[in-house]
Amino acid sequence: MKITQNIIILDFGSQYSNLILKHILYLGLHAKIVPGSISIDKLDVTNLKGIILSGGPFSVYNINKKIIIDKKIFLLKIPILGICYGMQLISYIFGGRVKKGCKGEYGKTMFIRNNNLSSSLFHDIPYNFFVWMSHFDKLITMPKNFKVLGYTNYCIAAICNIKLQIYGLQFHPEVTNTQYGINILNNFIYKICGCLRQSYVYDFISSSILEIKKIVDDKKVILGFSNGIDSLVTYFLLEKAIGRDNIFCVFINTGLLSHYDNFKSINFFKKKFNITIEVVNAEYIFINALKNIIDPKKKRLIIGKLFVDIFQKEAKKKPNIFFLAQGTINSDVIESKDRKNGFSAIKYHHNVGGMPKKINLILLEPLKNLFKDEVKKIAKKLKISYNEFDHHPFPGPGYAIRIIGEVNKKKISILQQSDKIFITELKNRNIYNNISQAFTILLSSKSVGVMGDVRSYGYTIVLRAVNTVDFMTATFVKLPYDLIELVSNRIMNEILNVNRVVYDVSNKPPSTIEWE
Ligand code: XMP
Repeated sequence: MKITQNIIILDFGSQYSNLILKHILYLGLHAKIVPGSISIDKLDVTNLKGIILSGGPFSVYNINKKIIIDKKIFLLKIPILGICYGMQLISYIFGGRVKKGCKGEYGKTMFIRNNNLSSSLFHDIPYNFFVWMSHFDKLITMPKNFKVLGYTNYCIAAICNIKLQIYGLQFHPEVTNTQYGINILNNFIYKICGCLRQSYVYDFISSSILEIKKIVDDKKVILGFSNGIDSLVTYFLLEKAIGRDNIFCVFINTGLLSHYDNFKSINFFKKKFNITIEVVNAEYIFINALKNIIDPKKKRLIIGKLFVDIFQKEAKKKPNIFFLAQGTINSDVIESKDRKNGFSAIKYHHNVGGMPKKINLILLEPLKNLFKDEVKKIAKKLKISYNEFDHHPFPGPGYAIRIIGEVNKKKISILQQSDKIFITELKNRNIYNNISQAFTILLSSKSVGVMGDVRSYGYTIVLRAVNTVDFMTATFVKLPYDLIELVSNRIMNEILNVNRVVYDVSNKPPSTIEWE
């Protein structure tokens, strides 16, 4: 079947392709992601007004002249915007030279527009602004008949060929940390491509309720309940679709939970939302299975399998359960994706990449295409008042991925205490709710200290606090030094075996939010 859209996004394996799609949809157009290598014959270009080439993990100088894009795309006379790898691909095809840089450029960078060249792409946008980068390769010789639209201290960061209506951006306009990113996309689709707004109605709630009804029919569902907004919203969508009597909620106590993410929170949900939740105590099973395991990927695979094993076992206790529902969201899916041709999986989220291949239950993941900020909006629309219990997301693998190296009960206890101190102090200062996620990490290596004139040899605790909208990019929070000092003192005074505290000042990218 041919594809009829106003905008198509050729996907070269970027972590952010879905973000581009979401923005175009919210800006009011029909758009679709298609594989970067799609043949032009498969595209219905009747209504096509613009093409976006996504970023990707490739290097143009590595593809041995085998460019994985149908070059006829450039003959369509339809405006094209290449982002990151997309810009490098355009440059390469039009005779420019791209080379491995001597260093990477990741995260926040100042972008400076070319004063002498105006372009509709930057209509109503200041001359200097911060953008988000994630690249190592850079353009060193301009493609023929292209001009520089802007640069950073490190690279040529925006190019265009006005006559051919082909544009390239080295930075990512689709991530929230890029200032004016949405304006740039808006300018591309409306000012350059000349699209007409289509008042796109994205009624997620009613369409997903209908879909769940159709899929589940007269069967029942087991829902993997955590304590977060994702599984709560999944519950309410299921409830509206099939009724609460057909949902069996199960919370697994992995023994890897913080003080804030254990039974207390489950009791809160039970009471507040009148939900019946079965608690399965699997502490021993998880901690035993993680003995001697230090590889983060192995940890995640073990945990993913245990979760599924337990859900399958629980499902057998009730009649007619055919489905396993999870609050999986888009960032879990994107980061877990193991793709062919060198595309790269960042980490196996326990509920996606960490799942065993064979499962006896059918997966039901209504939020799979939404990012965290969208889930929060759906929660609001569903009138779920979770504010009282507004708490930061907590990953399914819990402390297993915050204890670097081997996991054991002693280390879990250290992290429970350090998290409690950190979170309490953030709440005391009334800044907890202004932070997207804050937590502590326990390192495997020890270091020397001095306590009461005596040599100590203890663990290091890392404090991590980030702000983010969609959890695809994140910036570290600039916490006041006196607060860091207070938390650090409390941790070292109150927790045995800890003699050093450090603050993580890495953004995502190049880091991720969790350490493993
Ligand atoms: P990263 O570390 O990938 O995290 O930057 C993005 C968000 O996802 C959470 N996270 C997980 N959540 N299962 C989950 O339920 C997982 O396996 C998992 N891994 C990461 C992380 O805490 C952050 O909010």
